[in-house]
Amino acid sequence: MTRLFDAGIASLGLAFPSLGIDVRELARVRDIDPNKFTLGLGCGTIALCDQDENAVTLGAKAARRALERWDGTLEDIGMIVVGTETAADMSRPLSAFIAEELGLEGAVRSYEVKHACYGGTLALRQALEWKASGAAGDKAALVIASDVALYGECDGGEPTSGAGAVAFIVDKPTVAAVEIDSYAWSKPAFDFWRPVGEDYPRVDGKFSLDCYNEAVEHCFAQRIGDASAASVLSQYDAICFHVPFPKMVKKGVTRLGEHFQLGEDVTGKLFAEKVDPTMAWNREVGNCYTAALWIAVARALADQGPGAHVAAFSYGSGFGAELLGLVAGDAAADAAWVADVEQDLAARRLLTGEEYLDYRAARRKEVREVPLRQTA
Ligand code: CAA
Repeated sequence: MTRLFDAGIASLGLAFPSLGIDVRELARVRDIDPNKFTLGLGCGTIALCDQDENAVTLGAKAARRALERWDGTLEDIGMIVVGTETAADMSRPLSAFIAEELGLEGAVRSYEVKHACYGGTLALRQALEWKASGAAGDKAALVIASDVALYGECDGGEPTSGAGAVAFIVDKPTVAAVEIDSYAWSKPAFDFWRPVGEDYPRVDGKFSLDCYNEAVEHCFAQRIGDASAASVLSQYDAICFHVPFPKMVKKGVTRLGEHFQLGEDVTGKLFAEKVDPTMAWNREVGNCYTAALWIAVARALADQGPGAHVAAFSYGSGFGAELLGLVAGDAAADAAWVADVEQDLAARRLLTGEEYLDYRAARRKEVREVPLRQTA
């Protein structure tokens, strides 16, 4: 029987930056066949931060939106925890930068969680476990996953760049309840990492794909156990994955189908009906690291509505992964957070390829002139 935490997601907010570029424009100025980015990687548009935007401002914007929709106030928050791989400082947590923007201080536990793209999921789990332990009392947690995913110029990962944030209030499970049982898998690896002081990640591309697929296989194998894979997977209305780029998710589902011998037709149907629709927003914003999975989950909750069972597979390079289960609550009927995405995407400006080259050149200059990375 499914066991659910008493506390869950009480409110959701999303935020995206005000610039972007269609990957076909990027392909044009990089002299690459656009089909490689659109068909080969499954990408659409990359979200880009303007000069005054970063992981702090995005995280704060998402948090304000989640707080506005919640019936509590800042005084009711007893924990702020931020999952990110866009750290502003080696010591001061991103939660302190965001708390400052929000005016949140006092009897509040405040910290940052790092495990590549898995950090947001860990932050959410910790908040749920904090509530379940009784240590929270009647306080709620503000959990934020916020990242700016920008790869080096001409790097293979450049078309998979992106930026965005998701904020959750962990309190009553009105948006979604979360299952207590989850299925974690980790293995130390150098598949994707960013050495201290370097501005862009280093990636062992093909190896990173293998690690992701290995994690998919192990997490789902634990969930399925001795049962029939087809029957366990059919219990979910939507299956969400971490989305570094949409084709990676397709590869993960293919691996799942092969491992459990589902057959090509069943695997294809599973992907088309339960997985692909969850990535509609990811295609518009690119990889958002810690936020990427939760953007897909937010979309699935909105599409499926109250009572829907949603699986969430989280992956973070290094590597660590965890498969979670959620049940959509009554607030999924209105899905107020859809407005965040519609508003931000409607307001953003898409750069031409030439403007993007200028944007990157300006950023190069900024990196040289501000050797100590600072955000706010
Ligand atoms: N038309 C159509 N398809 C084309 C094409 C064309 N003209 N040219 C190439 N393709 C296809 C290729 O066949 C390939 O598809 P398959 O893998 O299905 O065969 C696809 O486009 C990509 O081509 P390449 O493999 O040659 O691309 P690449 O080596 O330049 O880069 C990458 C691919 C390594 C994934 C790179 O984008 C990258 O480094 N990305 C960042 C790392 C990443 O996201 N890894 C995912 C797992 S790690 C993770 O999940 C954490 C995270 O968020 C980063």
